[in-house]
Amino acid sequence: MNAYNFNQIEPQIEQRVERLLVQMTLEEKVGQMTQISVDRLGRDEAEQRIRQGQVGSVLTFYGAAEINRLQKMAAEESRLGIPLIIGNDVIHGYRTIFPIPLAESCTWDPALLEASARIAAEEASADGTDWTFAPMVDICRDPRWGRIAEGAGEDPFLGAALAQARVRGFQAANLASGRKLVACAKHYAAYGAAEGGKDYNTVDMSERRLRDVYLPPFKAAFEAGAGTVMSSFNELNGVPSTANPFLLRQVLREEWGFVGPVLADYNALKELIPHGLAADLQEAARLSALAGLDMDMVADGYHIHLADLVRAGQVPEAVIDEAVRRVLRLKLMLGLFERPFTDETLAETIILKEEFREKALEVAQKSMVLLKNEGGLLPLGQNVRRIALIGPLADDHHEILGCWYRIGRDEDTESVLDGFRAVLPASVQLTHVRGCDLVGAETPDIEAAVAAARAADVAILVLGEGEFMSGEAHSRAYLGLPGQQQALLEAVYASGTPVVAVLMSGRPLVIPWLANHIPAILQAWHGGIRTGRAVADILLGRANPSGKLTASWPRSEGQIPVYHAYKNTGRPAEGEGTIQFNKPHRAEYLDELNTPLYPFGYGLSYTGFAYEDLRVETPLVGANDTLVVSATVRNTGQRAGVEIAQLYVRDLVGSVTRPVKELKGFRRVSLEPGRQQRVRFEVPVQALGFWGLDMTYIVEPGKFKVWVGPNAATGLEGEFEVKAG
Ligand code: GLC
Repeated sequence: MNAYNFNQIEPQIEQRVERLLVQMTLEEKVGQMTQISVDRLGRDEAEQRIRQGQVGSVLTFYGAAEINRLQKMAAEESRLGIPLIIGNDVIHGYRTIFPIPLAESCTWDPALLEASARIAAEEASADGTDWTFAPMVDICRDPRWGRIAEGAGEDPFLGAALAQARVRGFQAANLASGRKLVACAKHYAAYGAAEGGKDYNTVDMSERRLRDVYLPPFKAAFEAGAGTVMSSFNELNGVPSTANPFLLRQVLREEWGFVGPVLADYNALKELIPHGLAADLQEAARLSALAGLDMDMVADGYHIHLADLVRAGQVPEAVIDEAVRRVLRLKLMLGLFERPFTDETLAETIILKEEFREKALEVAQKSMVLLKNEGGLLPLGQNVRRIALIGPLADDHHEILGCWYRIGRDEDTESVLDGFRAVLPASVQLTHVRGCDLVGAETPDIEAAVAAARAADVAILVLGEGEFMSGEAHSRAYLGLPGQQQALLEAVYASGTPVVAVLMSGRPLVIPWLANHIPAILQAWHGGIRTGRAVADILLGRANPSGKLTASWPRSEGQIPVYHAYKNTGRPAEGEGTIQFNKPHRAEYLDELNTPLYPFGYGLSYTGFAYEDLRVETPLVGANDTLVVSATVRNTGQRAGVEIAQLYVRDLVGSVTRPVKELKGFRRVSLEPGRQQRVRFEVPVQALGFWGLDMTYIVEPGKFKVWVGPNAATGLEGEFEVKAG
């Protein structure tokens, strides 16, 4: 699908920008740098400002008719008629809500994510939205952070590929509305590295880690044409991103040449005061403008102080002009001057179309990860005549929407109970018992749940988090099952009936008892409006799970951060570490293993896959060559399936230490039973570099290891060498 590139300069657009700019008063320029919330300001104040040309953008405002009303004030009543740009959080769907982004990332399927984002764009654009505050591309290696739910996990290579897919989807050409939607890479930068996984918390890291791990998905998003970027709440190395010249000018403009506007996060300009960077709002406005912040989201720092700061000579008007150019350029590229209004009859013909709902089911099925399937308990076979469906999420219609569902509606969703009722043969008896609440100490009907389990051939427990336990401002220090769910689980387990656990969450969970005792575990995430049908299809074998984890699952909170691209240290643990108290002085714990419960890239299928015959076809490569590695993947089971083959490398010796594994390739391979396929990876050697001692990107000569396999913990091993010169 072709898509718009908003990160470019078009001469005829620039001429129009300049013609507009020279007509603008200082107040009108500041207006374009101001984004308001109608709810926060109040409708009268908001409309008055819009008519006076003092508003460039409105956020969290929905509905074509309502948006047209505001747009009419801007386009027809303000002096210069500059249209508004309407921004909303269309994170994983607009009304057709898809699985949360972390779940979508477990498909490892860029084309599918592009299709999902395009559907979101179709619905949002048809309803008057011009700008989505997505994709969220923050790398995260700490599942205590609630916003891990919104991203693509722990790996910059995968994160970059999926960021580009989402940008292409959101900015797709030929939307039914005839309008465009511009994406916004966020939160710039390193928000996912908040200390302790506590949202909004301090971020402090080396420039090398920032550049090697946290910046690549942003750079990739801009290379895919993303038109805007949102600065993050956090400070980075002492300077909050919102007023950080290193991020907003040196990296974004001078190094990357990004031409779009930087939008502050919600009230983040004003938060420079509690950060302790600014003494008051005027200082916050001055610092932000000088650092390169182009648009102030709802803090009103620019609205109140910026014109005075310019008149006082504290902020050059040239700085304002640059910011206004970026905003006008964007509005012109969006076509808002030619088409400020949306066809108000369109949305009802677009929203929740059947093809969109079918795509949401496909994405939900492919995002779910089979974590365990001992003795082939799944898929449930013909011998299962009585099913007990138990748990606070078994008939849930809300939590499955996930965080940032915005205008998604409970009534649009299918619960797991709905899913089973839709596909279960009439001959199979289905009993549903809630068992306990999602949170809280009440255990109203654990006994009824146990009785139902005793009377069944299998007990399916649907457990996990509510949508309010992940997403913004929802970090957790303990990552186990909330409320009395563990008690319910153990009580049903004690009934002796085989148990299948279906987990719903916005993050990896800490589930040592469950992982140890329960024979079959499906991670269903918060899977969007089709969660329930997807779970039923997978458990009944109508769909074969193929999802693979994009964030490692820790055994305990004490292990965090645990991720695949770790450093070896001078005293690496042997194997996965040991638990004993006369330690051989290795980099490990006294009381916990080193390895995650489930590694990055891990996921099971109802069939099996073997990896054979690794060939490093280019054992010696130059810095500008292409590494070519291939292997055979074979379906060893009795049914068709999709395997996500992964390629990892390790740079054995460097001028700075290098991770023990880095993902540098992945491929979805669809195979019928008994069939095999040669999978060939071509990796530009330039992609194997890092930011060196002098803080330039380098590819160093030396020996590498390479693996092709099913996840970060295992694979066929080979080696190659990058030659000098
Ligand atoms: C929020 C979030 C950001 C979102 C914005 C507008 O606080 O941090 O991701 O896009 O405000 O809702």
